[in-house]
Amino acid sequence: MKALLLAGGSGTRLRPITHTSAKQLVPVANKPVLFYGLEAIGAAGIREVGIVVGDTQAEIESAVGDGSAFGLQVTYLRQQAPLGLAHAVLIARDYLGDDDFVMYLGDNFIVGGIDDIVARFARERPDAQIMLTRVGDPRQFGVAELDADGRVVGLEEKPAAPKSDLALVGVYLFTPAIHEAVAGLKPSWRGELEITDAIQWLIEEGRRVSSTVITGYWKDTGNVTDMLEVNRLVLESLEPRVNGRADAASELIGRVAVEAGAVVERSRIVGPAVIGAGTRVVDSYVGPFTSIAAGCLISGSEIEYSIVLPRSSIRGVSRIEASLIGHDVEVTPAPAIPRAHRLVLGDHSKVQIIS
Ligand code: TTP
Repeated sequence: MKALLLAGGSGTRLRPITHTSAKQLVPVANKPVLFYGLEAIGAAGIREVGIVVGDTQAEIESAVGDGSAFGLQVTYLRQQAPLGLAHAVLIARDYLGDDDFVMYLGDNFIVGGIDDIVARFARERPDAQIMLTRVGDPRQFGVAELDADGRVVGLEEKPAAPKSDLALVGVYLFTPAIHEAVAGLKPSWRGELEITDAIQWLIEEGRRVSSTVITGYWKDTGNVTDMLEVNRLVLESLEPRVNGRADAASELIGRVAVEAGAVVERSRIVGPAVIGAGTRVVDSYVGPFTSIAAGCLISGSEIEYSIVLPRSSIRGVSRIEASLIGHDVEVTPAPAIPRAHRLVLGDHSKVQIIS
């Protein structure tokens, strides 16, 4: 069995971060989202992983390498444009050969791994197996309709009138039957080859599509709100450790990790929070559910429930909350006179200002 890990896409919902970098590499508790997926794949006993990449191929390759750090053999599969999840299967045809495979969306986060569902698939070997979860508003998801035996009888992408509250989670298991389904697909109204259409084709052909309803936690980290929420969840089980240095005038409360080379001076850090390698926190407050990546400076500031990417600085600013701050960003106060905001914002930035 192989894995197909999808790490291309356009990432429009995470702009401007995705103008310059891959959304799958945004860190959750200072570890890229994609790495959690690679670990789940490895833990399920799969060794060969094809990673579908797009414009951010170089960045993904430099982060994951040949996969040996994860005990995996990684092959990169270039998708010329993000033409849909089923298109990713299409371009991976030669790599996948006649093997069964798990398709894993690289920006999805699943607590509890995929061992059980991979084992069940190997045992029962339906033509396809999907994972479902109950959601409050199914209209934003792919939605499944099941019969009394839990067999999937229909799938719809973002339906206006959902037939159930069971949304598709971004992990699918396929036999090579999926290649027949994908080969005949036409692009949907949004111009993509939809995996839901391919699975629907299997159902209509009388193939067996089974489902597992997961009760564990799942999120698609495709937008800032969900990314912050996943960061919160992962930090909840952070192991406290101080590999860097905190001075006597600082207070570290609760689950706080201070990575190697990080320095905390005259500051209060209320966990769960992680301070990345080489980062300096000076005269500041870092509140719960905050991940500060490596090489940052937080000085004379207050921040909580946020993610800060490498090499950014926040000086003299209070208070920042529920924010995702990119690489090499500088946040500083404006001079007192005239009282004005001074902004240099990239395309598709989002700023909320108190005025
Ligand atoms: P999505 O989040 O559904 O799509 P997207 O990345 O284009 O994002 P947005 O909706 O914000 O524009 O994609 C799920 C995962 O699959 C994600 O890791 C990107 C990846 N993907 C591909 O690799 N190729 C594709 O053609 C598509 C559509 C997604």
